[in-house]
Amino acid sequence: MKGVILAGGTGSRLHPLTRITNKHLLPLYDRPMINWAIEAVVKAGITELMLVTGGTHAGEFLRLCGNGQEFGIDLLSYGYQDRPGGIAEALGLAAHFVDGEPVLVMLADNVVEGSLRPMVEAFRADPHGARILLTPVDDDEHLRHLGVPTFDGDRIVDIVEKPEHPASKFGVTGIYCYDADVFDVIPDLVPSGRGELEITDVNNHYIAQGAMTYGVLEGFWGDAGESIDAYYAVNDFVRLHGANKG
Ligand code: DAU
Repeated sequence: MKGVILAGGTGSRLHPLTRITNKHLLPLYDRPMINWAIEAVVKAGITELMLVTGGTHAGEFLRLCGNGQEFGIDLLSYGYQDRPGGIAEALGLAAHFVDGEPVLVMLADNVVEGSLRPMVEAFRADPHGARILLTPVDDDEHLRHLGVPTFDGDRIVDIVEKPEHPASKFGVTGIYCYDADVFDVIPDLVPSGRGELEITDVNNHYIAQGAMTYGVLEGFWGDAGESIDAYYAVNDFVRLHGANKG
């Protein structure tokens, strides 16, 4: 199984900090944000990894991560996204690297307290379709910033990106497992209202095929890129409790 970490985008919600660097190079406690995502993927047992970034600070990822050995990575590849065309577009750049294998995808601004290993092991056991990770979210205002699933019983029947009226109390985290068919789905996507190829459209494709499973994450989950307040909340959590435990 391969890993892909997505660290492109504009980081506009953290302007002006992200005018002078890439969001995922900003500190979270004692290290750059990207380090936590890499650690999460490696601790899940994946050691062949591609990092996709973009913009004017891409070279600094090479300086930070090098060939990945310090992180326990056997093979570290880099991808460059010419413009922030969306999460699904960034993932599409990893097609050749993934080369037909199942893939774990992680958005580099996501931070988890626990381990991604149970999710990866569940997908490894049946590496077909897609598997996503949900997190319980009580606050509707928070849910309006996320992808939110609609359930029929315990089956997900739809995901709405940033819904005005959230249909459940779960957010879709930026942590996904896909089979290699995902690279056939991406070219057929149509840009959303915000001009991006949406990962939620990829997930809805798998739901329509009846090929989506999910797990519910235990422990803290945060999106450090969601707002400046979220960035500091994640910083505070990681400083006090750490991340990627277990
Ligand atoms: O964090 C979880 C949420 O992430 C999910 O609930 C949403 O369904 C999902 O769409 C995503 O929403 P965001 O609005 O937080 O996505 P954002 O545009 O902030 O992008 C998240 C990461 O994806 C970003 O840290 C880097 C990567 N990215 C994003 C874009 C737009 C890229 O690599 N390239 C891009 O063009």
